[in-house]
Amino acid sequence: MKTRLCEVFRIEYPIFAFTHCRDVVAAVSRAGGLGVLGAVGYSAEQLEIELSWIDAHVDGKPYGVDFIMPASSADMPTGDPQQMYAQARAMIPERHRRFVDELIKRFDLPDLPPGEPEYGGVLGWTPEVYRQQVEVAFAHPIKLIANALGSPPADVIERAHREGVQVAALAGKVDHAERHVANGVDIVIAQGTEAGGHTGDIATMVLVPEVVDAVAGKAQVLAAGGIARGRQIAAALALGADGVWTGSVWLTTAESDATPEVMNSYLHATSSDTVRTRSFSGKPARMLRTPWTQAWEAEDSPGTLPMPLQNILIAPAMSRFFHAHKAHLMFAPVGQVVGQLRQVRRVRDVIHEMVEEYVATVGRLDEGLAGGTDTQS
Ligand SMILES: Cc1cc2nc3c(=O)[nH]c(=O)nc-3n(C[C@H](O)[C@H](O)[C@H](O)COP(=O)(O)O)c2cc1C
Repeated sequence: MKTRLCEVFRIEYPIFAFTHCRDVVAAVSRAGGLGVLGAVGYSAEQLEIELSWIDAHVDGKPYGVDFIMPASSADMPTGDPQQMYAQARAMIPERHRRFVDELIKRFDLPDLPPGEPEYGGVLGWTPEVYRQQVEVAFAHPIKLIANALGSPPADVIERAHREGVQVAALAGKVDHAERHVANGVDIVIAQGTEAGGHTGDIATMVLVPEVVDAVAGKAQVLAAGGIARGRQIAAALALGADGVWTGSVWLTTAESDATPEVMNSYLHATSSDTVRTRSFSGKPARMLRTPWTQAWEAEDSPGTLPMPLQNILIAPAMSRFFHAHKAHLMFAPVGQVVGQLRQVRRVRDVIHEMVEEYVATVGRLDEGLAGGTDTQS
């Protein structure tokens, strides 16, 4: 499974793991892949704690950090978090606020305990906060930064290159990939529609070879979306990718910090149970279909707001869902590959099984080429 990216990062397998959970980051990197921590939900102070923990538990192996620095979003206020949140909420139309209040009643969600802020984690995609996150990340021995929704800002790319850090960006279409390369991105993550989280509408099988051809010789390509096992890794490399970028498969590992209710939903879902919805962030993101996502599709829904206002609009409901242990009724982001996630396994066992199945798959294909499937005679 050696590819050029294994040399670039000095890793054993070109398996990149996106996760919001530091334990998964460290476990993947220790097992020979490359763990990447999603920073969006963390304040700068909390991110510092998470990265220091990773430094202490990753045995010197490489890891990365992922940000959400949207190329397009509504203009946002600046200031301290409480002030920003209050000002952003003032930008929300009354009709939308009433709808969310009504949903809080419909789902019978209790008030938060006094002093618990309802905006925890929702400001990560505002420039004020992601700029602070970037500062924190560069103070750690990171080897990769990635961005979800567009190329990172030019100064962030320049700084990464000055400091010997590789830059990756997600692409759901060929023109995103071409723009990333023009902006100086080193690694394009070609993410198909089947992926969990923010995603476009082109399937991985179609997108990966298109992107590989479009950026050949200018950037490396990671295939993402629907990859959870060795056969899928073999397919991704066969499509021309230099490695794989995975997300959903780590949600059901023993190291994952998914709540018990959400974990249970993942373990019982089929590949038909996800939906692309704007009801979380204002941009289409794939997650399990829940009573919450259905409420936003119903006739009385006011429709969603642009990023990041939608997330700020729903913050009071989201924090209450989590507080009431009802997150599985609202927000369970995952890709279509969820139908293959049937049991909780340790990260190192997942990687081991991926590698074993990859080797068996390549062996089977080799045998076929060696004469097992001669259709000419
Ligand atoms: C729970 C969840 C949250 C995600 N959040 C982010 C994010 O904050 N930033 C990002 O670049 N990608 C995010 N993604 C997308 C992943 O980086 C990755 O591209 C995707 O999970 C790959 O497809 P898969 O889910 O089929 O493995 C998220 C994915 C999941 C499942």
